[in-house]
Amino acid sequence: MEKGKFTFTIIKPKAIKQGHMIGIFNMIDQAEFKIRAMKMTHMSIDDAKEFYSIHKDKAFFDSLIKFMSSGHVVVAVLEKENAVEDFRNLIGSTNPAEAKPGTIRHKYASSLTENAVHGSDSNENAMKEIAFFFSRREIFNIQ
Ligand code: CMP
Repeated sequence: MEKGKFTFTIIKPKAIKQGHMIGIFNMIDQAEFKIRAMKMTHMSIDDAKEFYSIHKDKAFFDSLIKFMSSGHVVVAVLEKENAVEDFRNLIGSTNPAEAKPGTIRHKYASSLTENAVHGSDSNENAMKEIAFFFSRREIFNIQ
């Protein structure tokens, strides 16, 4: 994997509703990621369908879309050497039942769909996902 400097995360609706945003950003900070852009926003059903279009044929697609549009999310651009891989290690397995102690999903996720956070799976997708949520002004000097 090419070692890029940026990744993208979504703190998902249930984690926001449960008040875990600060705890999650504390773990992100402790792991020495720099926050380069961040905002609270809401994904419409169409936004969620577009963002997760790669999963459109999966059985879990409808429940994923319903969940991701069910409340506010916080989206952020994170900077660190080898950001994508290091952040995926920090968040842990997609299924929280398999996430190791010390990971964000082990601490804060409740199910496969409601798994607290999203993290980009490649440098290319990180850049696409950042561009989906942030304008050029908000992501000054990120490439
Ligand atoms: P995320 O990292 O946001 O990327 C896609 C999401 O789909 C994933 O987190 C999970 O929330 C969800 N997902 C992936 N696999 C499954 C599954 N087998 N059942 C339900 N939801 C899933």
